[in-house]
Amino acid sequence: MCGIVGAVAQRDVAEILVEGLRRLEYRGYDSAGVAIVDGEQNLSRIRRLGKVQALSDAVHEAKVAGGTGIAHTRWATHGEPSEANAHPHMSGDIAVVHNGIIENHEELRETLRERGFSFSSQTDTEVIAHLVEWELRTSENLLEAVQKTAAQLTGAYGTVVMNKNDPARLIVARSGSPLVIGYGMGEHFIASDQLALLPVTRRFAFLEEGDVAEITRFEVNIFDAQGNAVKREVKETQVSHDSGDKGEYRHYMLKEIYEQPVAIQRTLEGRLANGQVVSSIFGDNAEELLSKVKHVQIIACGTSYHAGLVARYWLEEWAGVSCNVEIASEFRYRKSHVFENSLLVTISQSGETADTLAALRLAKEMGYMASLTICNVPGSSLVRESDLSYMMKAGAEIGVASTKAFTVQLAGLLMLAGAIGHFNDLEPAKEAQLVKALQSLPAKIEQTLSMAESIELLAEDFAEMNHSLFLGRGEQSAIAMEGALKLKEISYIHAEAYAAGELKHGPLALIDAEMPVIVVAPNNELLEKLKSNIEEVRARGGLMYVFADENTSFESDDTMKVLKVPFCDEFIAPIVYTLPLQLLSYYVALIKGTDVDQPRNLAKSVTVE
Ligand code: M6R
Repeated sequence: MCGIVGAVAQRDVAEILVEGLRRLEYRGYDSAGVAIVDGEQNLSRIRRLGKVQALSDAVHEAKVAGGTGIAHTRWATHGEPSEANAHPHMSGDIAVVHNGIIENHEELRETLRERGFSFSSQTDTEVIAHLVEWELRTSENLLEAVQKTAAQLTGAYGTVVMNKNDPARLIVARSGSPLVIGYGMGEHFIASDQLALLPVTRRFAFLEEGDVAEITRFEVNIFDAQGNAVKREVKETQVSHDSGDKGEYRHYMLKEIYEQPVAIQRTLEGRLANGQVVSSIFGDNAEELLSKVKHVQIIACGTSYHAGLVARYWLEEWAGVSCNVEIASEFRYRKSHVFENSLLVTISQSGETADTLAALRLAKEMGYMASLTICNVPGSSLVRESDLSYMMKAGAEIGVASTKAFTVQLAGLLMLAGAIGHFNDLEPAKEAQLVKALQSLPAKIEQTLSMAESIELLAEDFAEMNHSLFLGRGEQSAIAMEGALKLKEISYIHAEAYAAGELKHGPLALIDAEMPVIVVAPNNELLEKLKSNIEEVRARGGLMYVFADENTSFESDDTMKVLKVPFCDEFIAPIVYTLPLQLLSYYVALIKGTDVDQPRNLAKSVTVE
């Protein structure tokens, strides 16, 4: 959460910083700010409440010049969204931007007050600025002052510090919140995500936990937590320059929904051969490890957690291994049991979700056989800290509501079920069916996207509603959960999801004409059971919207609108049935006029607890 950009260059950096923030806005968007120093040591700080556009207008109007600067787009944790709480925060000549949470900020605030500092914001970040200012008084240079400061902070931070009197350098420190250094020609950059810097460089080095770095135009000096000089590999990124553009689409979310056939195609490429999943796609020694797996523990948050719930059905039914799925924020704070030959699987689009990362770190101490992450961001913390990784290759996902990442995660998890099943209960014929089904997926998704027009019409029924209920059975109960999350997240309509068999145990009491019920109904062995659940709703005057296989006998009538979904193999049905629900939530949000890509109160990458 929160986006950070910094630059040390000969040219004016205001444009670079603002464009970087624009590209990071999905990480937080309640306020934004920039501080820039020129060669004569004049510092300009501009902060604005609201979106980056407001800051951009102000920066242009002020004609801010200078070659060294830091910038920030905020997702409020401590202190309401306001100009006073917007970063950069200052103490004397020191300016600071920060991503994360300083857990001991109250204690530090007290100490700093006793030393005579006064606070102009409610943020935890301001303590960093004052601490650096204090430490600089007895340090040789800014680097040393930041190192001394970092040693006093507990919690998570990615921070960049600038000194008005020393405009030749920025000092950055990472603990728990990602930072990446961008290497240019006679200029260097820093950001919380490489996406911010793609217009200016393609060469990046990721800082590791505890690293502090000094960045000048000509040099980057990195020190580990012990203060030893270290090298971090500089790599050319494969991420395309236009990943941050909306192209012809009105919203990133719509663009990302329509990118799914290509994203799935990319994730499958080179990973299926001879009717089997190529097990080395999970890592070099994956085959040996996967052959020993008898239990899988999945940990994730939000949409990624829903992907895990679907995978449990696949792993237990097809691969023949037991599987538990847990929300990371729960797993990390409870005592749990490690089963024999147990593989720990984390799922995350960003690879930086604080709870998932903390759960992985905890699990590594608990004695799991190995850890595997299904992740979209190369070089992210989860990828670096896991034994094995499956790189999703979904391409950058900017919309806060996760869409293509979810379906690509599911494709990866289905491949994992195939690879583990290969050594367990999955018969060769079934394995070949699974592979064939995956290969058919890009075309099937393309076909399903053609439902968009009819779903757009359907969305009009929802715009006036305040509540909704999503139902499914088997793995589709997790798809119902994902559909409900999508709708509530971007349209702010209250949405709940239930495994349809649970209806009569309580939620049936909610049914009336004001409660639309959305049912995902593929043609599988649970369809007859689901039909009974539909009748239970119908008998109580509920209005239903059923997404049903084109080959089943569902027909629309007064109480039920049926939308036919293209026939698909049972293996990929959860992926295919996700698409109409994504489109439904998108079109409902469009009618409601909400901020589709940046829904209120949320941020894309949840790097704080
Ligand atoms: O980056 P991750 O996949 O770890 O993120 C997990 C959740 O924060 C994320 O899926 C969130 O629920 C999405 N906004 C849902 O659309």
